[in-house]
Amino acid sequence: MFEPDERMALCASFVRDGAAVADIGTDHAYLPVWLVRSGKVPSAVAADLREGPLKNAAANIEKNGVSDKIKTVLSDGLDKIQPDDADDIVIAGMGGELIVRIIDRTPWLRNAGKHLILQPMTKADTLRRYLCENGFAVLCERACISLGKSYCVMLCEYDGVVRECSDEFAYIGLLGNDRSRESKRYIYMIREKLMKKIKGFGSDSPEYELLARLIDKFGILSEENNNDQCGNDI
Ligand SMILES: C[S@@+](CC[C@H](N)C(=O)[O-])C[C@H]1O[C@@H](n2cnc3c(N)ncnc32)[C@H](O)[C@@H]1O
Repeated sequence: MFEPDERMALCASFVRDGAAVADIGTDHAYLPVWLVRSGKVPSAVAADLREGPLKNAAANIEKNGVSDKIKTVLSDGLDKIQPDDADDIVIAGMGGELIVRIIDRTPWLRNAGKHLILQPMTKADTLRRYLCENGFAVLCERACISLGKSYCVMLCEYDGVVRECSDEFAYIGLLGNDRSRESKRYIYMIREKLMKKIKGFGSDSPEYELLARLIDKFGILSEENNNDQCGNDI
């Protein structure tokens, strides 16, 4: 049976046993196929915006003998997904801004029973700010390393509480509390990005001061395990 990589396995680990799961932007439907074949969920919805990926999904679903358990849906975000078909919604492998757009146009996600499993490829800070400002709690967040790259995955749920989003939270979410090698590596990657960003600001600007503070803090949080000079194991 197909084995998911670390990124997909981390997304799958946040799905509740037996949940009605919808994978948005499913592409080859690897995640729902694995969830169903492993017995973690009885059935799933695999959705994608485009016909091409959805054909790949249908072919992969058939190849794995789970056509009776996984429904493919052509849908922009969750537009064509029925609330009853999805308690755990995975949105992975897309930019943070697109994930925000998909959540924002789906009012029924503002429901405490629904779990969002989000894995942004870029602009995770934009996504975290949106979640804080719009009543979504980040219940849990973890990082992983897949093919040498760092990723974060967040488990979120609506509770209606609008939270202040600190700059630190926007950039690293809950990972500052997690002393795993993967989280430290993620924070290290964010720190590298901020070190590039700070070069665009004069040293007397407020942006410089903020970024310098974050770079210092993230340096402490990401100590150890950062020897990417060797090109391995990060
Ligand atoms: C890079 S793939 C990610 C595949 C898989 N989710 C993963 O994490 O490996 C992104 C997929 O999202 C789909 N997509 C992009 N925008 C979308 C939208 N608004 N609604 C649904 N799917 C979308 C694309 O067609 C593509 O198949």
